[in-house]
Amino acid sequence: MIKITAAITAVGKYVPEYVLTNKELETMVDTNDEWITTRTGIKERRVLKEEGLGTSYMAIKAAEDLLQKSNTNPAEIDLVIVATATPDLPVASTAAYVASEIGSINAFGYDLQAACSSFLYGMSNAASYIESGRYKKVLLIGADKMSSIVDYKDRATCIIFGDGAGAALFEPNNEGLGIQDEYLRSDGIGRDFLRIEAGGSIMPPTIKTVEEKKHFIYQEGKTVFKYAVSNMADVAEKMLTRNQLKEEDIQWLAPHQANKRIIEATAKRVGVASEKVMMNIQKYGNTTSATLPLLLADYEQQLKKGDNIIFAAFGGGFTWGAAYVKWAYNTQVK
Ligand code: UT7
Repeated sequence: MIKITAAITAVGKYVPEYVLTNKELETMVDTNDEWITTRTGIKERRVLKEEGLGTSYMAIKAAEDLLQKSNTNPAEIDLVIVATATPDLPVASTAAYVASEIGSINAFGYDLQAACSSFLYGMSNAASYIESGRYKKVLLIGADKMSSIVDYKDRATCIIFGDGAGAALFEPNNEGLGIQDEYLRSDGIGRDFLRIEAGGSIMPPTIKTVEEKKHFIYQEGKTVFKYAVSNMADVAEKMLTRNQLKEEDIQWLAPHQANKRIIEATAKRVGVASEKVMMNIQKYGNTTSATLPLLLADYEQQLKKGDNIIFAAFGGGFTWGAAYVKWAYNTQVK
């Protein structure tokens, strides 16, 4: 019997038009372009400015881009997963709304929250549904409106994050392409170092929590940096050793875009040259759940059928992991 694998068969993206540059940030907080560039690699990020628009707006746009590019009928989609740390509403699934808005009338939908690892965990979910044979088309969207939880007076966080969305369609493959392996981890120790303290069940919102700015994201950058560097590199390296892959077998490394220095450290450990490392942090900053699909959308033209890609991510929780994927299509002949 042929084993069904889960392949990514189409990608799409959306980023808001407004560009928040390092120069503009210099007018908002005590920072400078040189510090941001050397410490993070970020030059600019996108911000969804229009009032009343949330994560679903960007998720829908990314999904529509994918549907249009791949000529996919939304009614054929079985499941829509929205990976996000910033759902439209604390309760009421963003994915259910997105599915309805894009015309996926036969799909069910749910949100998946694992901070910056949401999309990577979502890939595991999507792949399992496909490999089981029960579903044929799973749409995974990574979308975050980080500007909704960032304090633009806190230079430790406002320089890092940006808004955006990316989408990937998972379908069965009988040529052995798609997701080959994964290694997902988490450790609750992380919640002290990267979190939003108020607005959840431990500390419901009050006037005081708002006054104390406890609804904004807080990060102890140095600590998170150390965990991110060692853990992301560990899991990425594990994908190679566990699958007997050598550096020359890897065409691409697709790392979560949190900090250029973390990306470079991971690349160094895996042993891949810089031209094999997907990177767009300079344009978008850290878009949390959207970094991996935005990489795929930006690099789609360069990817070839059969390319071996190592994905790696690290985020709040802590959550982290890696996946080994064989790319399933050439863009030109699709
Ligand atoms: O995606 C989820 C996971 N998140 C991550 O992976 C992020 C991990 N952390 C990081 O990327 C980095 O820790 C940051 C980019 C957040 C910060 O970089 P850092 O090199 O760790 O800086 P630091 O926090 O150790 O601060 C170094 C210095 C400090 O000054 P002193 O104490 O040495 O005088 C800070 O006050 O830089 C100062 N500083 C800034 N200066 C200018 C901190 N933020 C800024 C800023 N502009 N925006």
